[in-house]
Amino acid sequence: MKANILKFALIIGTSSFATVAVQAAEQPPQYAASCGACHAYAVAGAPKTGDAAQWEPRLAKGMEALVSSVKNGLGVMPAGGMCTTCSDDDYKALITYMSTPQ
Ligand code: HEC
Repeated sequence: MKANILKFALIIGTSSFATVAVQAAEQPPQYAASCGACHAYAVAGAPKTGDAAQWEPRLAKGMEALVSSVKNGLGVMPAGGMCTTCSDDDYKALITYMSTPQ
């Protein structure tokens, strides 16, 4: 009985933590292992994650154009942006995440 209550508390505790983490960051799952490697630190002139001013002129090109830049590569950015499993929708979510002030 005690063990069941403990398990219940653990499940509630874990799921509410996950919800809070998602709301605070909204970081797409592919970000850390791909885009983040460059965009988190503005490596080689990459527009920095969370710096809306750096993203503004990029966003002006339109989302479709930005997705094709990533898929084809641009300057130092390799084709696909180091994400081998990303769909167009994943790229859009990643770009939205990176261009939103953190
Ligand atoms: C190896 C480093 C690197 C990685 C990894 C990387 N980028 Fe980039 N990214 C850059 C650099 C550098 C630029 C600036 C290129 C330029 O303007 O010459 C850039 C530019 C961009 C742009 C602007 C394109 C445009 O047309 O202006 C977008 C959008 C973008 N990256 C999205 C992503 C996404 C999404 C990912 C992950 C799937 C990603 N990048 C991964 C380095 C990287």
